Amino acid sequence: VGDLTSADLKGKKVFVRADLNVPLDDNQTITDDTRIRAAIPTIKYLIDNGAKVILSTHLGRPKGVTPKFSLAPLVPRLSELLGIEVTKADDCIGPEVESLVASLPEGGVLLLENVRFYKEEEKNDPEFAKKLASLADLYVNDAFGTAHRAHASTEGVTKFLKPSVAGFLLQKELDYLVGAVSNPKRPFAAIVGGSKVSSKIGVIESLLEKCDILLLGGGMIFTFYKAQGLSVGSSLVEEDKLELATELLAKAKAKGVSLLLPTDVVVADKFAPDANSKIVPASGIEDGWMGLDIGPDSIKTFNEALDTTQTVIWNGPMGVFEMEKFAAGTEAVANKLAELSGKGVTTIIGGGDSVAAVEKVGVAGVMSHISTGGGASLELLEGKVLPGVIALDEAIPVTV
Ligand code: 3PG
Repeated sequence: VGDLTSADLKGKKVFVRADLNVPLDDNQTITDDTRIRAAIPTIKYLIDNGAKVILSTHLGRPKGVTPKFSLAPLVPRLSELLGIEVTKADDCIGPEVESLVASLPEGGVLLLENVRFYKEEEKNDPEFAKKLASLADLYVNDAFGTAHRAHASTEGVTKFLKPSVAGFLLQKELDYLVGAVSNPKRPFAAIVGGSKVSSKIGVIESLLEKCDILLLGGGMIFTFYKAQGLSVGSSLVEEDKLELATELLAKAKAKGVSLLLPTDVVVADKFAPDANSKIVPASGIEDGWMGLDIGPDSIKTFNEALDTTQTVIWNGPMGVFEMEKFAAGTEAVANKLAELSGKGVTTIIGGGDSVAAVEKVGVAGVMSHISTGGGASLELLEGKVLPGVIALDEAIPVTV
């Protein structure tokens, strides 16, 4: 079997590991069903080809069996999106599950209970993985969001269940996050934001090897400012990363990457939605003020740089966009990328907060690709090999 489309599926029991780790509110209502919708094409394909689908996911980080992490709230939405009644098991291994699998019709879907109710899942326990594997004839991993975890249902199971192939979502994520990034249409720009340099070092270093333009925003820029001798007031600074920031700037220069830091910032007198705020040049941050967004000049410069590109990848917000006063920079990037998408530029939103930003602005639908993985997309962009991907049989691109 090369991939899912060449697998013989009729009447086969297929264990599908998806990442249906969706947010639920206090009433157990799904507040964002993106991950469920993203998992549908693979499941639908399996149904349409007469497979018996055994669907598995984790939800949250439960310590043992915890009712509030049950998958029951997912069943109605899954059934609605698939157009069939999805059955749910109360466990993910054991006799009850085995008998439900035995009575599963071709084209039927059985949702197993939260696989993390067993501590053996995260321990990648071989005996547990073997029990999961024993339920099926074929393994499909479509859980991109969990592919950076070497867990029993993402990695261990492949040792006992062959063939093990990628689902359509996993494949698409890799096509964009690995394919488009390692072999981009140029010029290729990376926009990296977020509050801490420390959590983005790997991504910056890795993207510096690939991109032509690197735009930096978010709280991390103040560490770069300070490294350049600028005053940063009470902005967030990682003192132990000053040297690293200097090195990254030097590295960009040596590689001929055009690295742009914001030339102006929105500063506030406190970290609060109702703070007093003003726009100052990068060199004009006074004591008692903290930078919480990039300023209008920076937006203009970033937009001009982005106008020259053919591929853009974005990871991390430009400011504290949850607060309206400090959302303009992040929203400007989202809008610019939407505009560029319309002109045929490949636009990739790599996980986490930047996804929330494009959704807030209402432009998620026009991007070339929006990753469903936070941690997973970050690790992939850092150049790491994801355990859930490397464990599969196929020769798919595994690293940037
Ligand atoms: C995520 O939400 O990033 C994935 O579902 C992985 O969840 P985890 O961080 O709890 O492993």
